[in-house]
Formats: sequence, C-alpha cells, structure tokens
Amino acid sequence: MNLNDTIEDDKAAAGQSVGAVRSAGKKVFLKTYGCQMNVYDSQRMSDALAADGYSSTETVEDADLVLLNTCHIREKAAEKVYSELGRLRDLKAEHAAVGRELTIGVAGCVAQAEGREILRRSPTVDLVIGPQTYHRLPDALARVRRGEKVVETDYALEDKFEHLPQPTRRDIVARGVTAFLTVQEGCDKFCTFCVVPYTRGSEVSRSVAQIVAEAEQFAAAGVRELTLLGQNVNAWHGVGPQGADWGLGQLLERLSQIPGLTRLRYTTSHPRDMDDALIAAHRDLPAVMPYLHLPVQSGSDRILKAMNRRHTAADYLALIDKIRAARHDIALSGDFIVGFPGETDDDFEATLNLVRAVRYAQAYSFKYSPRPGTPGADMADHVPESVKDARLQRLQALLSEHQRDFTVSSVGKTMSVLIEKPGRLPGQRVGRSPWLQPVIVDETAGEIGDIIEVRITRAGPASLFAEPVSSAG
Ligand code: SAH
Ligand code: SF4
Ligand code: F3S
Repeated sequence: MNLNDTIEDDKAAAGQSVGAVRSAGKKVFLKTYGCQMNVYDSQRMSDALAADGYSSTETVEDADLVLLNTCHIREKAAEKVYSELGRLRDLKAEHAAVGRELTIGVAGCVAQAEGREILRRSPTVDLVIGPQTYHRLPDALARVRRGEKVVETDYALEDKFEHLPQPTRRDIVARGVTAFLTVQEGCDKFCTFCVVPYTRGSEVSRSVAQIVAEAEQFAAAGVRELTLLGQNVNAWHGVGPQGADWGLGQLLERLSQIPGLTRLRYTTSHPRDMDDALIAAHRDLPAVMPYLHLPVQSGSDRILKAMNRRHTAADYLALIDKIRAARHDIALSGDFIVGFPGETDDDFEATLNLVRAVRYAQAYSFKYSPRPGTPGADMADHVPESVKDARLQRLQALLSEHQRDFTVSSVGKTMSVLIEKPGRLPGQRVGRSPWLQPVIVDETAGEIGDIIEVRITRAGPASLFAEPVSSAG
C-alpha cells in the first residue's frame, strides 16, 4: 500500500439515498486516480452524493454524472485525465443524440492545480472541484443543473470533514474489513519536485474527537484494520485530554483502545517527522503493524539538498537503525526518484548504496517528472530521458531482488493474517500478513474479518500461500 499506487477504483460503494433527495434516480460513475487519500475522498464524495439521491454505477454508459478524482503528481498521471475526458466527450455527444444528459466533473489534484484551464482544454467538462471543497459538491451540482459551468477551487474556510456526511454502516460494511481514514491533509515541506503543497494546501490535522468518532464507527461496522492517511501523516498533531499535545504516537495509542480495531497502519511519513513517541508506538503497541513506508527519494546528500528534503542519507540510515532497534522485524518501504536535475552517476550510485544498506521489503520508484510551478522544473541540468530510463531499470532490478528475498524469507514462518476477501480461485480466501503481503488460505481457514494464525508454506510471484496453525497448539 502506498501513496503512489495508481488505483483505478471504479467501484464507489453503492450508496443509499437518505434525507432530501434532490437527484433521486440519478447515477454516478466515480473513477479514482492517484493515492489512497483520493480513494478515501472518493468514498466521502460518494457518501455526499448518496445523501443527494445519487446511486453508484460501475458502468459509465449508465451514468448521469461522471466524476474523475484525479492525480497531478507526475505528468503521465495528469495527462491520463485528458485522454479520459476525450472519451467522455464522445459519450456525452452520444447521450445528447438520444436526449440524455451527462454531467462531467473533474475533482482531485488536477482540478486544484489547473482549475479553469480544464474548462478551456476540455469544454465538455461541467464542473471542476478541488479537494478542499468536496462538501460543496451537491450545491455545485445544483448550479450545474441550472446551466452554470462551475469551478470550485478556493480553500474553504469551513472544515470539509465536518460538513461531509458520515458513511452509513451499510456503506462501511460493503467496503470491507479494512478502511482508510484521513487524519491529516496538505503539506508544508515543499520538496522541490512535488506538487502536493500546491494541490492540497498547507498541513491541517483533523481533531482527535473527529478521528476517534470515525474510527469507532468503522470498528462498530466490522472494520479490523485501519490505515491512517496523510500526505505527511506523521506530522499529525492534536490536543488530547487535559490539553496535552499529541503526536501520531499518542493518537495510535488512543485508537488501539477501540475494541475490534486490531491492526493500525499509517502512511505516508516524512523522515523528519518520525518522533520518539511514534517509534515507541511500534515497540509498545501490538496493534501498530511492523511496516513503515518511509520515502527517502535519493541516497545522495547533494540531491537530497536540492530536493529540499532537509536531511542527509546518514540521518535517514540512523533513523532506520533507531526504528529497527525499537521493532526488529519492521519491514520498510520507500519511494525513489531517479534523474532529478543535476543527478550524476555518482549521485545515483549513492542511491543504490542506500538501498543496499536498508534492503526494502517494498518500494516504488519513478523517473523525475518536471511539474509546472515547482522549483525543480526550473533547475538547470535536466537529466536526459534515456539516462533516467537506464537508472530506473538498475534501481528497480535491485529493489525487486530485495523484495523477492523478503518474500522468500517468509516461507516457514508463523504469522497472523487478516482474512479480507474471497480469492480468485474457488475455495480460496485472501488475507494480509502484518507486513502487507497478500496471503492465500483455504476458505475453511476462517471467515472474512477473522485474524488467524498461519504458517507460510510457499511463496508465489505476488503472494504467499499458508495453512492455519491452531492457536491452542
Ligand atoms: N508525502 C510523501 C510523498 C507524496 S508523493 C513523501 O513525502 O514522501 C508520492 C511519491 O511520488 C513521492 O514520494 C515521490 O517519490 C514521487 N513523486 C512526487 N513528485 C514527483 C515528480 N515530480 N516526479 C517523479 N516522482 C515524483
Ligand atoms: Fe511532496 Fe515532499 Fe510534501 Fe511529500 S513531503 S507531499 S514529497 S512536498
Ligand atoms: Fe496524486 Fe494528489 Fe495524491 S497529486 S498522489 S492524488 S495528493
């Protein structure tokens, strides 16, 4: 699980209409690109649309409203949106020919970054809505119905989370035994390659009360594993009882007291914000899973400085030592960028050396993509595409070798697995290990939502196979 996973989730959970139904009978097709935060936002938008009378469809041809929840992180991600809009323009024309209406909306980070420009490039779009204004979605749609083209990209003063409807128990159950919960949004770090501070705004933490209430609601509906989300999740801070200052470590401790919430995860963390209380939470709280996504981007101090990451490779390695001392079996995952402006062969070798020192269980690596408006885009010495390609290939080969070693090292081990869903083959179920590995068991091993003890019998290319071991014996 990672903020970079491109998730194309066409399955916004089926919502039921409640309250005043202004759009009864209408159907929405919601497509999600980008990170888990977008997945969470899509669910909240889907809840808001359900309250407005929309039901969800997974068939774009059936939809009265198509909403794209977009990602701006790399050029490819952003351009995908425009090819999708091209297809939708044709669909809209087909609908119009038979007297049907199709409303097209663009939400997410492309909406925030490009705003009105989207309407210029794609006049077929009716609505552009940025991540901070999703609670205004029903009103924006009402304005579209009155014939307006709507662009909502202001940073709303009101808290969108306060104003978005809570999911119903039914929706939560439909979404399964694992859930995402956004606890922090935005970023003040301004890494020189990154658009997030511009698309998501400055860092905002949700309150302890809001988070606990939502987590309790999830747990009551059968959620067993909660992943706390934030662009800089470990910068989360809040006020605990008696006015105490809380960081993510304290929040995890509070959430671990909620009955039923057996597993807690969080993503994505910045190395600078890994404080001692959070590291201690990995040591002291069994609910906090031994897995940490801690992107480093580069192993070269020169490049780290140019990226404005504000730490050195040695700082990062010292931090990893400290985390491993607290929790020896922790698996690490990372993000890397190759070909940042000015990156030399030596800089790239330093990245490979850092990777060799850490041995990541999982990793995501990208070619640097210059993003409009970020300082990196204006830097000198851009690296040729062919060099980026070659570096990416070498880095990925090394990372995959380590990933494979990690997978294979699980064979023979006993571990807990949360059973999440039916497997692809009849008679199978798929769960996750504490280290986020997919684990396949026989359906007789337990029900969805059960956490069972298993022994790993073999490693497939993408998953592990296991048999239950009796916890009594
Ligand atoms: N907040 C997280 C990252 C969010 S973006 C962090 O600080 O690590 C997810 C990942 O996308 C980043 O870690 C980075 O590896 C990659 N990324 C971001 N901007 C990029 C760009 N312009 N080109 C290539 N990769 C990029
Ligand atoms: Fe982007 Fe850096 Fe903020 Fe992560 S910490 S979201 S990479 S600016
Ligand atoms: Fe993409 Fe926005 Fe997430 S740019 S990675 S969808 S925060």
